[in-house]
Amino acid sequence: MNSYRIAVLPGDGTGPEVVAEGIKVLEAAATKFEFELALTEYDYGGDRYLSTGEVLPAGAVEDLGTYDAIFLGAIGHPGVKPGILEKGILLALRFALDQYINLRPVKLYPGVETPLKGKGPEEIDYVVVRENTGGLYTGTGGFSMKGTAHEVAVQSMVYNRFQVERCLRYAFDTARRRHSASDPWRGLSKKDLAEGKTAQLTLCGKTNVLTYVYDLWERTFYEIAEEYPEVKTDYCHVDATCMWMVKNPEWFDVIVTGNMFGDIITDLGAMTQGGMGIAAGGNINPDGVSMFEPIGGGAKVYGAGSDQSPSRHLRRRDDVGRTRRIPGGPGRRSRRGVCDRQQTRVACRPANGLFHLGSRGPGGRSFGTVGPCRSVCSPA
Ligand code: IPM
Ligand code: MG
Repeated sequence: MNSYRIAVLPGDGTGPEVVAEGIKVLEAAATKFEFELALTEYDYGGDRYLSTGEVLPAGAVEDLGTYDAIFLGAIGHPGVKPGILEKGILLALRFALDQYINLRPVKLYPGVETPLKGKGPEEIDYVVVRENTGGLYTGTGGFSMKGTAHEVAVQSMVYNRFQVERCLRYAFDTARRRHSASDPWRGLSKKDLAEGKTAQLTLCGKTNVLTYVYDLWERTFYEIAEEYPEVKTDYCHVDATCMWMVKNPEWFDVIVTGNMFGDIITDLGAMTQGGMGIAAGGNINPDGVSMFEPIGGGAKVYGAGSDQSPSRHLRRRDDVGRTRRIPGGPGRRSRRGVCDRQQTRVACRPANGLFHLGSRGPGGRSFGTVGPCRSVCSPA
C-alpha cells in the first residue's frame, strides 16, 4: 500500500478550519483508494510569529523538503504588518522549494453560482499557469532618499530566460495533457481541427508597455510553440485578458503568465468560479515537493468562521477534465497580427483593413485593434 507523508500547515485566518475539513476528505480518499497518510502538523503562521518573533525556524525548509507534499491553509494575520508572514513563510517556501509553477484551475462546478450572466460550467473551465518564483516577487528593488520629499522607490520585474522557458514548457505540456485528438478543446474552429490542433495556450502579457520582460516571454513562447504543433498559440494583454475572463471565459483553455499578472487574474478567475471559497492552487515543483493551498484565504474579510470550502484543496495539477466541443466554436484570435479566414468575415472592417483581436465568440462580438490586416481581408 502506498503511503504519503504530508506536512500540514493550517496557518492563519480561515486556514485551520479549511484544513480540518480538508483532512477529513483526504482520509476518506485514503480509505477509498487504499493509501496511507502520515500527517505532521506545523504551527507556522501569525500567532507563532507574535509569540516567538520567528516566521520559519532554522531548518524548517530542509525539514519540509523531505515530505511528499505540503498542505497549507492560509497565511496573513491582522496583527502582523503585511509582507512579513507572506514573504517570510509563503513566498519563502515557494522560492526555497523551487515551486516554480502556480497552477490555478478556473472551473465552475455544476450547481455553483457564478456572477457571470449566461455562463455555466461549459464556459468556465480553463487553467492558469502562473510563474511562481520570479518577476516582481523577487523583491529586487529599494529606496533611496527615504523619508525625504524626493524619496524614490524601485521594484523590478526580474526574469531570466531559464525561468521563462521552464514555465512556458510546463504550460505547453499542460495544454497537451488536457486534450487529445479524440477529445479536442471545444473552442477550436474547424480550420484549427483540420490543422491538427487539439488545445490552446494563451500567453497573457503586456508587450505594448513591458517591452523588455514580455518581449522575452513572447519570443520564447513562439520558439517553444514550434515543438508543440498541436497547441494553438494565442496572445492577450493582461488588461484584455481580464475583459475576456468576464465576457467570454469560454475563449480560454490554458493561460500562461508571469507572477504578478497571474496573482491578479486568478483572484478574478476565482470569483467567476464561485468565489475565493472554491478556488484551489498548487505551488508545483514538478521534480520536488509541491504545496497545495486555497487562493487568497488569508484575506482579512475571510476570517475564521467565514464561508470557505475544503473542496478547493482537492483540485490541482491533474485537474484536466474537458469534454464537449461547441459546434461551430469561437475560432477567434489567431497569432498576433495575422488574420485568418474565420476572422475575416466578422473581425476586419473592410473600410480600414484593421485586424481586431478577440472579435468573435459564441457570446457576441467586441473589438480591440491590434494592427493592420496582413492577410486575406485587406480593404475590399
Ligand atoms: C496568492 C496570494 C499571495 C501572492 C500573497 C498572500 C503573498 O495573493 O497566493 O495569490 O501574492 O502570491
Ligand atoms: Mg493572490
